[in-house]
Amino acid sequence: MRSSVLVAASLLHLLVLAAADKCSWQNCPAYTQNEDVLNVHLICHTHDDLGWIKTVDQYYWGSKRELLTVGVQYIYNTVIDELEKDPSRRFSLAETGFLWRWMLTHDERQHERLKKLIQNGQIEMIGGGWVQNDEAASHYIEIIDQMSWGLQYLNRTFGECGRPKVGWQIDPFGHSKEYANLCSKFGFNALFFARMHYLEKAKRIQERNLEFVWDSSDDLKTAILTGAFFQDNYGPPPGFCFDRFCGDDPIMDNEELEGYNVDQKVQMFVEHIKKQRSAQRHNHIMLLMGSDFQYSDANTWYTNLDKLIKYVNEKANGTVKVFYSTPSCYVDALTGSGVHVEKKSDDFFPYASSNHSYWTGYFTSRPTFKRFIRESNAFMQLLKKLDSFAFVNGGTPKWFSKLDRSTALTQHHDSVTGTAKQAVTDDYAKQLYRGWEQGTATLNGMVNQLTKKTESSSSLPVQKFCLLNETNCDISQKSPNFTVTVYNSYIQAVVRIVRVPLHFQAAKVFDPKGVEIHSEVVKSFLTSQLPSEGRAPFELQFSVTVPPLGFVTYFVVGQQSGVEDAQRLEKLRRQKNATTRWRRNLKTNETTVSNGVVELTFDANGLLKAFTDLASKTTKPLRQEFLFYKGMGNDHIQPTGAYIFRPNGSKPFPVAPSASLKIVKTNLLVEMRQVFSPWVSQVIRLVANKKVVEFQWTVGPIPKEKVNPVAKEVISRFTTDIASDGYFYTDSNGRQMMERRRNSAPAYTYENTEPVAANYFPITSTVYIKDAQSQLTVCTDRSQGGSSLQDGQIELMVHRRAFHDDHWGVEEPLDEPGRTGKGLVATGSHFLMLEAAGDAKLKQRVLAQEVFHEPFLTFAELRTPVEDYLKQRKTEFSGLLTPLPPQLNVLTLELVKKGVLILRLEHILQNIDDKVLSAPFNIDLKGMFAGFEIVNVEELTLGANERIVSSDFSTQSPLRFSRLSSTGKTNVKMGPMDIKTFRLEVRPVQ
Ligand SMILES: *[C@@H]1O[C@H](CO)[C@@H](O)[C@H](O)[C@H]1NC(C)=O
Ligand SMILES: *[C@@H]1O[C@H](CO)[C@@H](O)[C@H](O)[C@H]1NC(C)=O
Repeated sequence: MRSSVLVAASLLHLLVLAAADKCSWQNCPAYTQNEDVLNVHLICHTHDDLGWIKTVDQYYWGSKRELLTVGVQYIYNTVIDELEKDPSRRFSLAETGFLWRWMLTHDERQHERLKKLIQNGQIEMIGGGWVQNDEAASHYIEIIDQMSWGLQYLNRTFGECGRPKVGWQIDPFGHSKEYANLCSKFGFNALFFARMHYLEKAKRIQERNLEFVWDSSDDLKTAILTGAFFQDNYGPPPGFCFDRFCGDDPIMDNEELEGYNVDQKVQMFVEHIKKQRSAQRHNHIMLLMGSDFQYSDANTWYTNLDKLIKYVNEKANGTVKVFYSTPSCYVDALTGSGVHVEKKSDDFFPYASSNHSYWTGYFTSRPTFKRFIRESNAFMQLLKKLDSFAFVNGGTPKWFSKLDRSTALTQHHDSVTGTAKQAVTDDYAKQLYRGWEQGTATLNGMVNQLTKKTESSSSLPVQKFCLLNETNCDISQKSPNFTVTVYNSYIQAVVRIVRVPLHFQAAKVFDPKGVEIHSEVVKSFLTSQLPSEGRAPFELQFSVTVPPLGFVTYFVVGQQSGVEDAQRLEKLRRQKNATTRWRRNLKTNETTVSNGVVELTFDANGLLKAFTDLASKTTKPLRQEFLFYKGMGNDHIQPTGAYIFRPNGSKPFPVAPSASLKIVKTNLLVEMRQVFSPWVSQVIRLVANKKVVEFQWTVGPIPKEKVNPVAKEVISRFTTDIASDGYFYTDSNGRQMMERRRNSAPAYTYENTEPVAANYFPITSTVYIKDAQSQLTVCTDRSQGGSSLQDGQIELMVHRRAFHDDHWGVEEPLDEPGRTGKGLVATGSHFLMLEAAGDAKLKQRVLAQEVFHEPFLTFAELRTPVEDYLKQRKTEFSGLLTPLPPQLNVLTLELVKKGVLILRLEHILQNIDDKVLSAPFNIDLKGMFAGFEIVNVEELTLGANERIVSSDFSTQSPLRFSRLSSTGKTNVKMGPMDIKTFRLEVRPVQ
């Protein structure tokens, strides 16, 4: 059953009009209502990637001309010149990250010229994010941030007329339902893009369905008018590319000279218009006049577009009316045309441009970079949250730091996707490092502030990060005595076993009160895949409890002479009742390992075989193994590469038939250390009494044959007996769960041309399969591609290495050298839960949050005895005064200026997740946080760039987002999947 909806005018729109002078959407060109005439909206635009072939700053300046001669600064300069010549000319501008660069490098007089063009409606801001973010690998927190900073920057710089009205995702390689949902929460009236699966595209053209209303959340009932472009790109119709770097002839309109082509051009133009009209339901035609880095000499464009408008209007016998327009003027015209469109509720993954070109490789490409981005964002959230408390105690706000900018930058659809050149990726990593440097300084200032006991407290020892994945730690190597500070940006307290690189065989650990606690020392797992330099031979384990929105400091006192202390520790250890155990069955050679709640069984080959829930005494088969697909090389038209996943055959090869298995057990946790091959190893970790199993994989360097190397795509595969019946579930940017069905597509007739790649979906944080009894869930610590190619199975692609370019523009094979030049080694974790079906949903949501908010650890030298330290410094801090319900999350707590915070609250459950906990609930902001008192509350749109002023809109129109009133009340109602954004005016309390 298809339902179609009337695209109705937006009241929101009209309301805002009254206030401002003449923004682009108030200054729309006149069009005709005559049904026999086609209105052609020329949308002048440029698509400027924040890094891809060149780095973002090379693109901005126009350096590295040998790669590409364009420079974005010239685009702004020449567009401004050309617009000033004629008030009917229009331009639409996306990518706030470039706008910021232009503002930074131009003076007041130039700023005024640009502002004027925005105020008189000649320039319309579209999209408005810092970048055009990816929609597969970006986490929703990352998307909200990068969009908000762009939107807030526009508001602060240009006011009301700088506010974008449409989402603009013209280049990303697939589109998520959650992004569409967020767009309606940003207050956009419509969303535009270019790319969709070629079969869906063909069907939509045939059914005149390129424009539709996207139902983007079952919980929030959001809907957004969505327009996919008629052509397979976001450029002009063939023959009408007038950029200085295009090959098309200009319009030559003087018969005294050779080359007169006006009639021919008009003819061609009208033919294209008619073709596009036949795929539409109304008389408005939107033409994208511009493309990648175009308008660096805007004169070539406007000279010819002026003529095109003149001659088509003159010579098309009144059947066509062409004019300069903008996306929101087009949306306005469309809503005025009374057109009915269809609805859609699934998403646009995976994207395929043809039968063998499935863009599902980039879900995994550059796995370590993807993790670095995610971790950087988590670090930034921590800083922002804790800094809010430090500030009210007298710290200084640092809005828009390097970390903010670099985490926003790397959400770009050629960055987090892993589809930029290696040199550009190195530049992104450098920007993130700069962010960490500045962020670490901020952290030090903040901790110093929050731990001071008196104004004369001695200065806090410098806090540093360590490479814990590689058991590499400067401080613990140099100094036998050190502090470990553990930070928690989540709003629930966390209990963790921390593992600290240790260069001594023994150490004492003291808790934040100075009381010695139980700790364990084990030998490090030093896999030969990583360089051994600087790596600690031992690991110290101890349990920490970190309060919500806070941190705690523990003390490690190293012991040079091991013997006596080893005995002492042994005693401490024996006092504890061990819940962890393991044994090997000599007859079957099977090994079982238990942590008190879960028992894992490994077969004689060292591979995981079964999972037992000790409480319910149920055992399920559970196999985990590593395999790889061989990728197509360039003897095929479409090789596998940075964008494309194209395996040669649908059967993956096992990395090894068996693994060596070593069990390392303490009272706190058991590690099952597996070595599969010289390039694949894994630690499976069971923490005492916890039901989640961690699989920490280390993959690389992926072998490269000396002659004719073959691409390899490495997967970790979990196999159970769950009767999943072809279905599996993957998250949409870490938020709503999407139902996926193998060898099937909701929107078109599936063709099985790529049996593996076409079944791959982005897994930003979570994938699960289920039947009536059980659910198997895997949460990831970064985005990856994955699928369920057999019932009962989940596979995740963890790493890939390819040796040929895949012909989509990057012109480099995805052959990452890594630190040694021999190939990149990637390490990361999968967190697995096998639960009874009914119990899994809340646990799965909380697990995903915990993985995102994994505590950070800093280390500092301890130069004084613990007692002295305790006299000088507080060792515990929490920003939360009362415990909050598990279905709530504080998404954002961000200081924007003195006394003003942005707070975002989120209900992490969907309606279908839990009968009780999914229900709406009320929460009072008063008394929630420590250190400040709320003086005033205002509700803002998701981008925090606009106040929500009125609640008297009906929510029937798909073009409108529902607006709630700002009452100044601190009591807030949160329904399933709600995200609410508030501006808090606060005053410190001691
Ligand atoms: C306009 O009409 C004339 C005369 O009928 C015809 O020759 C010409 O092709 C038409 N032009 C267009 C663009 O349709
Ligand atoms: C938008 O900018 C204006 C002008 O600078 C400012 O007064 C207003 O508070 C801003 N809106 C928000 C929600 O920050």
